[in-house]
Amino acid sequence: MKAEEPQTVYLRDYQPPAFLIDYVDLRFELFEDGARVHSRLTIRRNPEAEPDQRDLVLNGEDLELESLVLDGRPVEGFEADERTLRIEKVADQFLLDVVTWIRPQDNTCLEGLYKSSGMFCTQCEAEGFRRITYFPDRPDVMARYRTRIEADKGAYPILLANGNPVDWGDLDGGRHQVTWEDPFPKPSYLFALVAGDLVEQRDEFVTGSGRTVELSMYVEARNQDKCDHALSSLKKAMRWDEEVYGREYDLDRFMIVAVDDFNMGAMENKGLNIFNSSCVLASPETATDATYEQIESIVAHEYFHNWSGNRVTCRDWFQLSLKEGFTVFRDNQFSADMGSPTVQRIDQVNMLRTAQFAEDAGPMAHPVRPDSYIEIGNFYTLTVYEKGAEVVRMIHTLLGPDLFREGSDLYFARHDGQAVTTDDFVRAMEDASGRDLSQFRLWYGQAGTPQLRVTDSFDAEGRSYTLSVEQSCPPTPEANHKTPFHIPFRVSLLDSQGQPLVLDAEGNTEQVLELTEQSHRFLFTGISERPTPSLLRGFSAPVKLEYPWTRDQLGFLCSHDTDGFNRWDAGQKLAIDVIQSLLNGHDTAVDSRLIDAFRETLADTSLDRAMVARMLTLPSVSYLTELTEEADVAAIHQTRQRLVDELAGALRQDLLECYHRNAPEDPYRFDPEQSAARALRNMVLKLLTATGDDQGRTLATTQFEQAANMTDELEALRALVNSPFEPEREQALTRFYQRWQHDPQVVEQWFAVQSESPWVGDLNRVTQLLEHPAFDWKNPNKIRMVVGVFAGRNLLHFQRSDGAGHRFLGEQVRRLDARNPQMSAALVRPLARWRQYAPHLRDSMRSELQNIMASKDLSRDLYEVVFKSLKQ
Ligand code: BES
Ligand code: ZN
Repeated sequence: MKAEEPQTVYLRDYQPPAFLIDYVDLRFELFEDGARVHSRLTIRRNPEAEPDQRDLVLNGEDLELESLVLDGRPVEGFEADERTLRIEKVADQFLLDVVTWIRPQDNTCLEGLYKSSGMFCTQCEAEGFRRITYFPDRPDVMARYRTRIEADKGAYPILLANGNPVDWGDLDGGRHQVTWEDPFPKPSYLFALVAGDLVEQRDEFVTGSGRTVELSMYVEARNQDKCDHALSSLKKAMRWDEEVYGREYDLDRFMIVAVDDFNMGAMENKGLNIFNSSCVLASPETATDATYEQIESIVAHEYFHNWSGNRVTCRDWFQLSLKEGFTVFRDNQFSADMGSPTVQRIDQVNMLRTAQFAEDAGPMAHPVRPDSYIEIGNFYTLTVYEKGAEVVRMIHTLLGPDLFREGSDLYFARHDGQAVTTDDFVRAMEDASGRDLSQFRLWYGQAGTPQLRVTDSFDAEGRSYTLSVEQSCPPTPEANHKTPFHIPFRVSLLDSQGQPLVLDAEGNTEQVLELTEQSHRFLFTGISERPTPSLLRGFSAPVKLEYPWTRDQLGFLCSHDTDGFNRWDAGQKLAIDVIQSLLNGHDTAVDSRLIDAFRETLADTSLDRAMVARMLTLPSVSYLTELTEEADVAAIHQTRQRLVDELAGALRQDLLECYHRNAPEDPYRFDPEQSAARALRNMVLKLLTATGDDQGRTLATTQFEQAANMTDELEALRALVNSPFEPEREQALTRFYQRWQHDPQVVEQWFAVQSESPWVGDLNRVTQLLEHPAFDWKNPNKIRMVVGVFAGRNLLHFQRSDGAGHRFLGEQVRRLDARNPQMSAALVRPLARWRQYAPHLRDSMRSELQNIMASKDLSRDLYEVVFKSLKQ
């Protein structure tokens, strides 16, 4: 236990900042043994603050204070502790000069200024700037920054910061300097600096109004040929934001930097986005389609923040979803426009239902706008991001695209240059549309996943059909009782041919029913036969849906629903029902209707092949676990595997034909057509090999040897690894490593293929991977790919009945905590769901959490997650 209990921060305690900063003038002297940071702040009292706050209080962590001068005179009356610096009774306006000494070379938590493969870089969100200098490190203090960087010219030829370069030149002793100025006021979390030996890839973009923006991507020389995709994605995103949201870029330069050691995926620093190498570098030989897709969406995401986050930012960190939820919604829309909207939606919802629903049902559940936290780093969650995006999406659904765009325009116009709240966002949507969203706001303040219970009845004589809907929401840590949500519920009624019925005088075949009460009845008249309802189309709200589906109905929807998402979902529901019935003994044989549905899907050449690939994917063990109380993971895995075997056996011929029909095209291009064909073919290959089919073995080994791109090579490897072919799978793993050991991003994939695999990724293997020469405790990607993937995706081995998987995770989490608390707190999360599991698993998970709780010097980050997980 900590000597000092970490403090909780509450939203209800929010107060405007006592002081505002107009200018920040920074000078960095970078050396090998540390860095000296000179900061000159132009400060004035905030006229809107409470008048009783006389003292200036600044945040600071792990800083060595070298000097503190106020209006030219050394400060005498100040107090400093571990986290703050207080200067008593200051004037209403003054200049403060602060000099601090920091040690980037020893910074292992990767927040603030640190070193990654020889370069200096920063990560300031959420509270990293306070590790650079003393500052009111909160997002509602927005200032103009000028940044001068001085460093050795040979080792650090490139010196970057936000904005535009305004001055540069050589200094004594082989050093040089570059000075940058950012004309836009910004919060400290958007500050960035990079110094290193990097090469620059240039491009340009002409904005809608005709301004030319210089685009630069900076990478280490060995990565020079992996920049094209990110740059072309960036240009697409810039155009898209102009066309769809009317948002033009505002500076003359936009820079992207790739760094190897990064806690997150990427960061939207003003004019200088910093990316984890794994989320930005790509070439056909080294990156898979999935990576190409991820890069396109993350480059867009960070770019979109320039408006949704930077020009309009968050008042406080409780409002995080203001920028993240909205920006995820925007990047989802962008990805939908770049490829298949249906497939994009399927992937999105699949993730939401598997992981966010689990979070919402566990001990760390919190509202999209949390009301308290111990460590804000723990609240960059699926709830804030993904559920937050769903909330914005529901507003889009309720208002329609045109009014939504008007609301967005009003939001940006009204709040440009301000730090605001999610409430301000909703108010702009209300004011532009004239709609009352007061009940809708509950989505921001109430945690938990609402559940809809739907029943129906058909009156043949009266030719009417009734849908009854009841909503409820389980208790979550912040509240037992929930007020009904405002839920957009999109529905159609299908006739026996699968045609949607006309539902109103305008000829609409689809309606968005609005649920606002605990229960509703919707009456549809003029209906001559019992329809099959297509409910919650496109997943119109982040809720759990219950309806007494028959398997015939699900099979029918799986082949007929005109809503692509629901068509996929019907297949998933059918598979889930079959698996659950086998598990609980209701069924002994696999229902042939499921096999028929799969066969039909495989034969349907009118379907997008990426869609077929999704439809042939059985629900994951993680999702099945999430749906099961007292989950017994081994049994779930076994039953799912049985289904794979039977499906692959029954469809063998169809699968082989499909594989051959979809031969790869040359040369590799990342486009929707080609990647869909690869996705389908590789899905089919996986089914063929998983059962130990001999022909599958031949196809996989041949594909592995002959593949001309990383997608086909890695998927062949994955197919072999997840098969009973023992010598082949080890040989392939060895070959692959030999081929790619020089490329860290590919090696990361190689780690993940093993640690996620129920076939090879047992505890022995994962322990060996930690000892592998390519593994590195300083590199978050490697840790994520081995430890994170094992605990998150390889439930069979992580949930071993003797608890050894839990102990393994606990050990790694404790080992990491002193070095990188953000990472240790993220890795421990799978244990938090202990209540979901069968008693023997549950007990061992809990006791591992207790072990962690009992260890000395827990970080605040880890403490918060473990403490809340154990709390009643
Ligand atoms: N602002 C975040 C990055 C961030 C998060 C920095 C938390 C520090 C702490 C960035 O915009 C972001 O959301 N990145 C995501 C990827 C995105 C596509 C959802 C990430 O890094 O995972
Ligand atoms: Zn973001």
